Amino acid sequence: MSAVVTAGGAWLVTGGAGFIGGNFVRRLSRETTAPIVVLDALTYAGNASSIADVLARPHVALVKAALLDALFARHDFTRVVHLAAESHVDRSIVGPQPFLRTNVDGTFQLLEAARRHWTTPNGPLAGRRLLHVSTDEVFGDLAPNAPPFTEASPYAPSSPYAASKASADLLVRAWHRTYGVPVLISNCSNNYGPWQFPEKLIPLTILNALEGRELPVYGDGRQRRDWLHVEDHCAALLAIVERGRVGETYVVGGGDERENIDVVRAVCRAVDEACGGGRAAEGGESAARIRHVADRAGHDRRYAIDATKIRRELGWAPRHSIDEALPALVRWYVEHRDWCDAVRSGEYRRFYDEYYAARLGGNVTAPGRSPAPR
Ligand code: NAD
Ligand code: TYD
Repeated sequence: MSAVVTAGGAWLVTGGAGFIGGNFVRRLSRETTAPIVVLDALTYAGNASSIADVLARPHVALVKAALLDALFARHDFTRVVHLAAESHVDRSIVGPQPFLRTNVDGTFQLLEAARRHWTTPNGPLAGRRLLHVSTDEVFGDLAPNAPPFTEASPYAPSSPYAASKASADLLVRAWHRTYGVPVLISNCSNNYGPWQFPEKLIPLTILNALEGRELPVYGDGRQRRDWLHVEDHCAALLAIVERGRVGETYVVGGGDERENIDVVRAVCRAVDEACGGGRAAEGGESAARIRHVADRAGHDRRYAIDATKIRRELGWAPRHSIDEALPALVRWYVEHRDWCDAVRSGEYRRFYDEYYAARLGGNVTAPGRSPAPR
């Protein structure tokens, strides 16, 4: 067992059946034998099957719906890692309300529980820490030649998703300053890795390429993101929650800044490679199926992170790059087709059909069904 985790008390991980949360509890459950409670509403994006191996461990439990007060009263939580969120920008544009409910009100409810159970008139109980996991999207659109975001960057969210996360961040800061709730905040760049729900760019492109479908690229595809492997993000989260300074914010990024179109082309190469030494995936070279479609409303052109603070204070550094990680990631999606088919069920298909049909000119077959005849 490593010495990364020092806390002896119980952990609460919200959103632990989602992409990052699942990877996080998988790692955490190896690092500690302390009780871990995963609180997850199991929305379309959350799947108990994603963490079946973790839930088989005796010190890990999944709770689908519970009163936070009852959970805090039953378990002596010393660590809370808050990942539960509605996380997809396009869905937030189509229907913002769930983003306000979960990302803003959900965070408020959690802060109130921590305030009630962790603070006294004489100050906060010792040894408690709540890490609120946020995004670099709160900082908005970064100009092409501007220096990357730091912890001091002003908030300027563009999408309903980003605005809801920014609102949550501000609540977290206020609950620290006003009530002394012992919080930390991380603002991370775009993640990729195993178990990512296939509505996000990289897994959607991998699966569509494997299945011979069209590959939608918004606008000119020259928007830039700073990509970080989820394992590097989880290492950063553990470092922050265990060793970060309470009340501080840490921005986290891989320094792997790429245009979307380059990422999509790199995925195409990895998929074609996986399908047999340069042989194109089903139906022709994957890159030939790239389609530039209507841009996302309010689309931020660029995000980038200057991770100097977490590198310097906590000794964290990313270990992966997209180019090195993509072949293994494509293999992971090939080997987990049952999971992909299961999670791309009713709700996902409905969204995919409605969202992409207009963009691909009605020429869309939802994943999980056979490709349209060409
Ligand atoms: P995800 O959509 O894969 O998972 C979110 C999880 O939260 C799901 O398991 C879902 O069931 C759960 N959930 C949703 N509403 C809930 C509610 N009301 N109560 C309890 N659980 C609920 O998201 P993700 O990509 O794993 O992101 C996790 C966190 O990290 C989010 O807060 C997101 O804003 C943040 N983040 C994500 C990225 C990224 O690139 N994915 C980057 C930076 C920050
Ligand atoms: P996404 O994975 O949704 O993450 P975020 O919006 O949080 O950055 O999208 C990553 C980038 O890829 C973003 O600039 C939007 C773009 N994109 C496409 O071009 N096509 C797609 O089908 C999707 C889902 C995203």
